[in-house]
Amino acid sequence: MTDKEGIERLIRPELVSFGGYSAATSPETLEGKVEVPVENIIKLDANENPYGCSPRVSQALANFSGFSVYPDDGQEKLRELLAGYAGIDARHIVAESGSNRLIDLVLRLFVSPKDEVINCVPTFGIYRFSTELCGGTLVEVRRDERYTVDVAAVKAAIRPRTKIIVIASPNNPTGTQIPREDILELLDTGLPVLIDEAYYEFSRETVVPLVSQRDNLMVLRSFSKWAGLAGLRIGYGLFPPRIADYLLRIKIPYSVNVAALVAMEESLKDIDYLQERVKAIIAERDRLFEELGKIEWLRPIPSAANFILCQVLKGQANQLHQQLRNKGILVRYFDEPLLQNYIRISVGRPEDTDALMKTLRAVES
Ligand SMILES: Cc1ncc(COP(=O)(O)O)c(C=O)c1O
Repeated sequence: MTDKEGIERLIRPELVSFGGYSAATSPETLEGKVEVPVENIIKLDANENPYGCSPRVSQALANFSGFSVYPDDGQEKLRELLAGYAGIDARHIVAESGSNRLIDLVLRLFVSPKDEVINCVPTFGIYRFSTELCGGTLVEVRRDERYTVDVAAVKAAIRPRTKIIVIASPNNPTGTQIPREDILELLDTGLPVLIDEAYYEFSRETVVPLVSQRDNLMVLRSFSKWAGLAGLRIGYGLFPPRIADYLLRIKIPYSVNVAALVAMEESLKDIDYLQERVKAIIAERDRLFEELGKIEWLRPIPSAANFILCQVLKGQANQLHQQLRNKGILVRYFDEPLLQNYIRISVGRPEDTDALMKTLRAVES
C-alpha cells in the first residue's frame, strides 16, 4: 500500500473526492506566460475594487505599531464601528477575516452531517464548499430564466433535514437581487435564512433593518468590494443576538487581524471618498453593459453588482477567456450545466473597459 492510500484510509471519506474552490488567478503567477508585463494586467476576474482602498488605509498602516499584540477577540471596538455603519446595535454583529469565513461559520453552526442546505443556483461556490466540508448535502433550487429566486420551489424543497436557506443578493455571478417580499415569505418558513449582501454598496438594497425584528434572518457584508480591502480580508454579519453569541463562541480566536481592523476603521472615516468610487463603478457598470451589448455574439445580463455576466453566443467561453488572458485581461469563465458558455467581467475603470472592448473586437475580427 502506498503512503497516499494509507493516509486516505484515515481522511474523512466524504472529503477524499472533495473538489475544493476554484479561486481567481493571481497576476504574479502569470509572469512570462502572457503577452504583457504583470504590472499591466487588467484584473476583471474577482470583483475587486479597481481603484484600490482609501489612501487613509495605507497611511495608517505605515504608522501603526501594534502588530505584535493579539487583537481583541471580543471585537468590542470593531462591532461598535460596524454598528454605526450598518445602522444596527453592536450585539447583532460578528466580524471575520472575510465574509467567506462567516459563510463557513454559519454553516458550521447549523449543519451536521447529512443535513440539507437549500442553495439557489447558479450562485457563489463557497456555499457548496462549506456545506460539503460540514458533511451536509446541498439541495439545489434552480433560479428562473431571469436568474431570480423561485420562492415556491425553495419552499417545496424544504424537508425535515433542511437546516438553512442561503441566498446571495445581488447574486454572484448573475448580479440579480431577491425582492424583500420574497425574503419575508422565506422567513415565514421559520428556517434560518442567510442573505449574502457582499455587493450591497453597489445595489443599495438591504434587509439589514429587518434583522432586529426577526429571529431567523442573518445578513452578510464584505469590505472586499466597495472598500477595496479584499487582500486584507474583512467581512461582517448581522445576526439575531442569540446567533451572534453562538458564532462568537465557535469562531477561531483572534480571527480578524489588527491590520484589518485599522483598515476598516480608516475606511469608515473616509466614507465619502469610497462612496464616490462606488458611484464611479456603478456608472461604469452601465457603460460596460451598453458596450458589451454592441457585440452581437455576447448577451450581457443586467446586474446590480460590480460585475456583468455574459452569455457567449458564438465560440467557446473558455477560449475567449484564454485569448483575453494572453492579452493581459483576466475575466472569469463558466462552463457548467446551468451556465454553459458564460464569462463574468468585473467592472473596472473607464480605461479598463476601453482596453477590454478593443481586445474583444480584435478577437471577433
Ligand atoms: C456573493 C459573495 N459572497 C461573499 C464573497 C466573499 O467575500 P470576502 O472577500 O468578504 O470573503 C464573495 C466574493 O466574491 C461573493 O461573491
